Amino acid sequence: MAQQHHRAALHRARPGDGTRAAGRTGRRAAARSLHRTPRPAAVRPPRAAAADGSRRQRIVEVPGMNVLILGGTGFLGTAVAQACERSGATVRVLSRGGTSTVGEGVRGDVRMPRLGLSAADLARIRADTTHVVFCFGSVSWTSGPGEVLETHGNGMRSALAFLHDLPELRQAVHVSSLLALGRAEGRITNRELYTGQRFRNWYEYGKYCAERLVRDALELPVGVVRFGPVLGPDPRGGRPDTRHGLPVAFPHLLAGYPVHLARRGDFPCWVTDASSAAEIVVKALTTPIGRATWTWFDPALPTLAEVFAEVCRPWGVVPRIVEARPLGRFTRLLGERVGTPRELAEYTEPWFDLDVDVLEEIPGPWPVPDPDYLGATGRALRDGAERKALT
Ligand SMILES: NC(=O)c1ccc[n+]([C@@H]2O[C@H](COP(=O)([O-])OP(=O)(O)OC[C@H]3O[C@@H](n4cnc5c(N)ncnc54)[C@H](OP(=O)(O)O)[C@@H]3O)[C@@H](O)[C@H]2O)c1
Repeated sequence: MAQQHHRAALHRARPGDGTRAAGRTGRRAAARSLHRTPRPAAVRPPRAAAADGSRRQRIVEVPGMNVLILGGTGFLGTAVAQACERSGATVRVLSRGGTSTVGEGVRGDVRMPRLGLSAADLARIRADTTHVVFCFGSVSWTSGPGEVLETHGNGMRSALAFLHDLPELRQAVHVSSLLALGRAEGRITNRELYTGQRFRNWYEYGKYCAERLVRDALELPVGVVRFGPVLGPDPRGGRPDTRHGLPVAFPHLLAGYPVHLARRGDFPCWVTDASSAAEIVVKALTTPIGRATWTWFDPALPTLAEVFAEVCRPWGVVPRIVEARPLGRFTRLLGERVGTPRELAEYTEPWFDLDVDVLEEIPGPWPVPDPDYLGATGRALRDGAERKALT
């Protein structure tokens, strides 16, 4: 148990679930009992209700909400656009591609003045946009400084400047990443951003810069929602993208190759699913979040090893996780030499010490992550692979 302090959140009562929050002793007892019982097939606290239509209906409806989602055609942006539509909002989605399966697609580029909008689109968006979500840029952990800083630095500056042009604006939300904390030391809460940390890659630094710019824009009604890796089937359909972020490890593990992880991956990796993440963004728009920072992750706190096991389960594969001694850079280099994917090589030790009580700062009721989103990720990968083999 000594190494499992993160498990304190596992059996915590959720606001709105009809139970009283467990005290510290109760939480410890619940966590201890969890470790005596066999793990369920899906990593899920017993009290978590299955995701269903009624849960989705609970999103607060805000009359006359016109949401502009910058980057709303991506993996997370599509889930956010769908959740906004379910809440009754009118949705516009801006991307360089310009088309969208949800709401109205608008062509633009956050790196350009006035988001590169045509005069007609600019006039319409200015006239009635009440809410904005910043959800642009990829999560590639291997992108270089040029691409990352252009998007998350210059793009964010221009997106924030654009908010000044919206007379009807009530609330904006920036989708940040816990990885903006880099290799932060000490206990992390919603307050910390710069702790003197080093960054593992340009993506982490880019997300740090973006959140810094948002925090410094004191005159704007823009809040921050932080997520760790977001998993689950792609809301756009098709095979999940395994080119970036944590999913890079999945094909590697499914092919039977080993990954070297400290404590054999028995540490939290702060994942959640796309639908609960999207509902948190809608909650931030509608509550509204104001200028606060929220952090959301699956309260069941699956460890990195559990994430890998659950994603591989539908394939009948047990991931080969090899103990890596905490030798820092040497372990990482060794891991790369023996085949750990390059993107993962920097994430093989506990990432940082996040205070799980940050969840309590999100007003209830909380969304419930889909009960089997990790297994569903594995099944979507398998079905995608079968479809590819048939064509
Ligand atoms: N996925 C996660 O696990 C996760 C976790 C925490 C935070 N986030 C944050 O959520 C955001 C989206 O992540 P994602 O996984 O959904 O990425 P994604 O699937 O790669 O989507 C990126 C979106 O941004 C758009 N975009 C990229 N460059 C743009 C530009 N210059 N101007 C306008 N739109 C642009 C893309 O459309 P076009 O290419 O057509 O322009 C697309 O709609 C990122 O900021 C990421 O840091 C993601």
